Amino acid sequence: MLLQNLKIVLVVLGTLGLYTWVANAIPQVESEVPAQLSFGADVTPEELVSAGGQLFAGAGACVTCHGLEDRAPALLSDYGGAGPIGQRCADRVEGMDCKEYLYASLADPYSYLVEPFGPIMPDQRINLSEDQLWSLVAYLQDQGGEVTVTGADLQSTQASSAGGAASQGGGGAATAAASGPSSDATEATAVMQANLCFGCHKLGDQGVVLGPPFDGIGSRRDAAYLRNSILNPNAEVPEGYQEVAGLMPPNFGQMLTAGQLETIVQFLASQR
Ligand code: HEC
Ligand code: HEC
Repeated sequence: MLLQNLKIVLVVLGTLGLYTWVANAIPQVESEVPAQLSFGADVTPEELVSAGGQLFAGAGACVTCHGLEDRAPALLSDYGGAGPIGQRCADRVEGMDCKEYLYASLADPYSYLVEPFGPIMPDQRINLSEDQLWSLVAYLQDQGGEVTVTGADLQSTQASSAGGAASQGGGGAATAAASGPSSDATEATAVMQANLCFGCHKLGDQGVVLGPPFDGIGSRRDAAYLRNSILNPNAEVPEGYQEVAGLMPPNFGQMLTAGQLETIVQFLASQR
């Protein structure tokens, strides 16, 4: 039994290495697009801030990382003595004003890394439309700064991304639906299969028991715990698993999109 498990581990680790390589070579596959919203040219700053706030706290899954102080810089409160994000954004990169910097930190997160953090924040264009990105920029500016995003900004990036992304809704009045990432079983299972979770975890008749089984895991663990143990696998080692501690890959934060992570978390939390 032990020998068999060891073989499985070796195969899984080898495959994971390959997968990581492939994942870096191809764009991440889109799985779950948070609620779409679209604005007309006459959108007001208030409408943008409000939609951005909903995304930030909900489907955008920003708090997955920005709610945990050791994972990402605080945005709504002070970080490093420079104030909340709306106050410090203009001083981050020389020659970039607040609006440009914030848009870049969402759409191209690795070009300017905030010390001492590594490149783990997913490119938000994977999951979010241009209008959603701009609503987040407005919301972040509103944290201690002045909102300068206008309908013209939305139009400019929409024009340049037209033809590419298929995610633009029709124009017209502001519409913002507030549905979270799906907890759809097929979806969650597909993401877990693609990331080889079943190489070490069992669910129903799928997978092997090496790490804790997923059956009934929602009655033992809440969503916050599950999220943290996927992002920081060795933060807490459950009873009885000391011997295999350290086997779970620590880089799912980079491999999963924020939407995929939430889909898995919600699905596991619902396993009773
Ligand atoms: C997987 C973790 C993760 C998620 C999810 C995530 N971020 Fe980040 N974010 C980081 C980390 C780490 C940094 C610091 C390193 C860097 O600059 O990329 C960062 C940096 C930032 C910055 C720059 C902060 C500064 O002080 O200059 C902004 C703005 C930001 N994130 C906004 C967001 C928003 C909005 C979302 C949700 C749509 C989000 N992030 C989702 C991890 C994450
Ligand atoms: C190479 C084996 C391996 C892979 C692949 C793996 N895990 Fe794990 N996982 C473990 C082990 C071993 C533990 C228990 C020890 C620890 O926490 O380090 C664990 C712990 C967990 C826990 C905490 C369970 C508890 O009750 O405390 C969760 C949740 C989890 N894994 C989810 C996942 C998900 C989701 C994936 C795929 C995205 C995944 N794991 C991929 C081996 C693995």
